[in-house]
Amino acid sequence: MKVGIPKEIKNNESRVGMTPGGVFELIKNNHEVFVQSSAGENSGFLDEAYENAGAVILKTIEEVYAVADMIVKVKEPIEKEYSLIKKGQIVFTYFHFASSEPLTKAMIESGSICIAYETVEDRDGGLPLLTPMSEVAGRMSIQQGAKYLEKPVKGRGLLLGGVPGVPPGKVLILGAGVVGMQAAKMASGLGAQVTILDIDMKRLRYANDVLPSNCTTLFSNEYNIREHVQTHDLIIGGVLLKGKKAPNLITRDMLKTMKSGAVIVDVAVDQGGCVETTRPTTHEDPIYIIDDIVHYSVANMPGAVPYTSTLALTNVTTSYAVKIANMGWKKALASDPGLQKGLNISEGEVVYKEIIEAFDWVS
Ligand SMILES: NC(=O)c1ccc[n+]([C@@H]2O[C@H](COP(=O)([O-])OP(=O)(O)OC[C@H]3O[C@@H](n4cnc5c(N)ncnc54)[C@H](O)[C@@H]3O)[C@@H](O)[C@H]2O)c1
Repeated sequence: MKVGIPKEIKNNESRVGMTPGGVFELIKNNHEVFVQSSAGENSGFLDEAYENAGAVILKTIEEVYAVADMIVKVKEPIEKEYSLIKKGQIVFTYFHFASSEPLTKAMIESGSICIAYETVEDRDGGLPLLTPMSEVAGRMSIQQGAKYLEKPVKGRGLLLGGVPGVPPGKVLILGAGVVGMQAAKMASGLGAQVTILDIDMKRLRYANDVLPSNCTTLFSNEYNIREHVQTHDLIIGGVLLKGKKAPNLITRDMLKTMKSGAVIVDVAVDQGGCVETTRPTTHEDPIYIIDDIVHYSVANMPGAVPYTSTLALTNVTTSYAVKIANMGWKKALASDPGLQKGLNISEGEVVYKEIIEAFDWVS
């Protein structure tokens, strides 16, 4: 199979879909790999390393899309890329269709095979291709939140860990999944007082078992959220309903009850966000303020730490890419029910029912 690795062109996205190590695996399995010149540069992988692994370097993104049977990338295609995607071409990447109707319509029209990282499942129903990026984003959410609590960047002017004689900040974490647990680990490590919420008692029991004593677990419902947003300094949105739009847990009217200069980091922005006032932002312009509350909602947080993120992502995607290349997409999916769950759109047809529900389309 001919596999193409384009350079990411989404704002400030420095990750790349495959490392030279991944290319090496595909070449070993008798495939051809075409990498766009400088695609890996911002993650620390130079063209020379890809060539040494056996890839052919192509100058333009158009050449990569034109030659490839399968495109392996990181972020969902942006408008400029829509027309490059060919009928029958496999596109293996993050899509997050439920949060973008235009993207969904464009991929239906393209006739391509869209296998979405975020809905591929492992044997336990976990999301193996979302996990590493959620780990990065969860840990980063506290770094970013702590920074935006500083006064010069419009926050409350509070040091999250406090100092002797001054209490630490309070962090409210919505969702005790991967993002939530990593955020709790970082925030508690800084000495903050952490409250973590979920609707899944199993997750709360686990959190209660493994997190340190400065973390409290709380059942997630509107009453508890309404009460706790009033007293916390930093709120992390880390909820997920698989393949669906995130539920709106913090409504606009709750902002007025919060402390002035409090910060919301809505990591779930890529599924529409769990805060009514969330809109996607970029690393170039990451925050905006509504009712004195700082909103940080960068949709590709791991893109800011491409070295760590590219390695973490490709550690888990490469074996799937090799499987698809070796067997062809139909046989690869038929052989692996978890990979089958990754198929969102196939040759013009939406096959992942949550997408149809997200847009109220009648199937
Ligand atoms: N912005 C970014 O750069 C970035 C990066 C990685 C992941 N994400 C996003 O972060 C979100 C969380 O990902 P994850 O891997 O932690 O998912 P996860 O499935 O591991 O965890 C989500 C948790 O949310 C809980 N939940 C669902 N409804 C809830 C509710 N009403 N109240 C409280 N908890 C609720 C679930 O029970 C689950 O434990 C996803 O939308 C993911 O796409 C964003």
